[in-house]
Amino acid sequence: MTRSTERELRNAQDVVAADLDHICSDLREVFAAMAGRNVLISGGAGFLGYYLVQSLLAWNRSTAAPERIRVAVYDNYLRGIPDWLTALQGQDSLSLARHDISEPLPAETADFQYIVHAASVASPTYYRKFPIQTMDANVNGLRNLLEYAVRQQGTGRPVEGFLFFSSSEIYGDPSAANIPTPETYHGNVSCTGPRACYDESKRYGETLCVNFAQQHGIPVKSARPFNNYGPGLKITDRRVLPDFARDILENRDIVMLSDGSPTRTFCYVADAITGYYRTLVKGRSGEAYNIGVEEPEISIADIAEKTAAIARTLFGYTGKVVRRTSNDAVYLTDNPNRRCPVLRKARNELGYSPAIALDEGLKRSLLWYRDNQCAEEA
Ligand SMILES: NC(=O)c1ccc[n+]([C@@H]2O[C@H](COP(=O)([O-])OP(=O)(O)OC[C@H]3O[C@@H](n4cnc5c(N)ncnc54)[C@H](O)[C@@H]3O)[C@@H](O)[C@H]2O)c1
Repeated sequence: MTRSTERELRNAQDVVAADLDHICSDLREVFAAMAGRNVLISGGAGFLGYYLVQSLLAWNRSTAAPERIRVAVYDNYLRGIPDWLTALQGQDSLSLARHDISEPLPAETADFQYIVHAASVASPTYYRKFPIQTMDANVNGLRNLLEYAVRQQGTGRPVEGFLFFSSSEIYGDPSAANIPTPETYHGNVSCTGPRACYDESKRYGETLCVNFAQQHGIPVKSARPFNNYGPGLKITDRRVLPDFARDILENRDIVMLSDGSPTRTFCYVADAITGYYRTLVKGRSGEAYNIGVEEPEISIADIAEKTAAIARTLFGYTGKVVRRTSNDAVYLTDNPNRRCPVLRKARNELGYSPAIALDEGLKRSLLWYRDNQCAEEA
């Protein structure tokens, strides 16, 4: 049990402190391996960037100056610079650059030993609005960073680890025989449907990674996240749990935009971040790793009820769960019915071991949303 689960969490500040504690204690050896290095995080202003960036800075606070990890965020701030990042500006080991990763890297790009490519539009509502930018970030942006890694090989300061954020969406809508889904499953994906800009560019991205690993020896690995949720995910993001949180905090009924039957396994972000840094440092080159939780596999209807029940205890919420049809005609087209990972590879090879139960993660998320209700709409 980490220190965080032993104390009562009352607000967003407590939640973030507990989560950073959890991440840093899980990753002690991994961060030690990155000591003194420069890390580039593309898309670091986004949801996963929230803890990808803050956990390194938290580790630095208890580390001697030469060992600190220097973090550079490259982001085009497509949806604005979030307040949490503005608040960190000026910290010693953090630099921020406004850069569209699908454009060539600036000529004066520093030496980076670790690269995390998280820049992409990730919310289905928004990637359908910006499909070409989504493909460009996942394909051209990735290519720019891989080419950079090749150039660095001749400098004596090579890239030591490179993480590409792929997605569990690369599996599409798996047949029943392939659920839970291992990394070896090839997928059941439309190349022309409304989700294809995302799914297919992630798939091609992984193909680029495998071939740059094989042809150029780049230590690049892919992570396939399964439905992360929690602090940092904007309440306006149009993913299911922030939508529920918005309904709850306005004390209106929780609106489900499907019949509630599709199932997912929801992974609390503080656990997922441990999986991503483990993949970056310990993953095998050219390999992909599922990162998420195996259970519970829960329907959208059940998680809506569960979230409402937790909100009743926390805030005296009085609403109920209702069903409506989305105004977006293709909202559910190609939406997978079930999604659930096999995590054997990440557990065995990386020592990945998610620990935060769904009820606890939902509670932390609601406390965080209560104190973080302002976020710009895109
Ligand atoms: N959160 C999840 O559950 C999940 C699931 C599967 C995959 N992923 C992948 O993980 C990565 C991070 O996801 P997230 O949830 O943090 O997404 P997010 O949308 O919250 O953040 C993405 C960030 O990338 C930036 N960005 C987008 N296009 C860019 C470009 N061309 N150049 C520079 N910056 C750009 C955005 O401004 C944003 O700050 C993405 O690649 C996403 O596809 C996330």
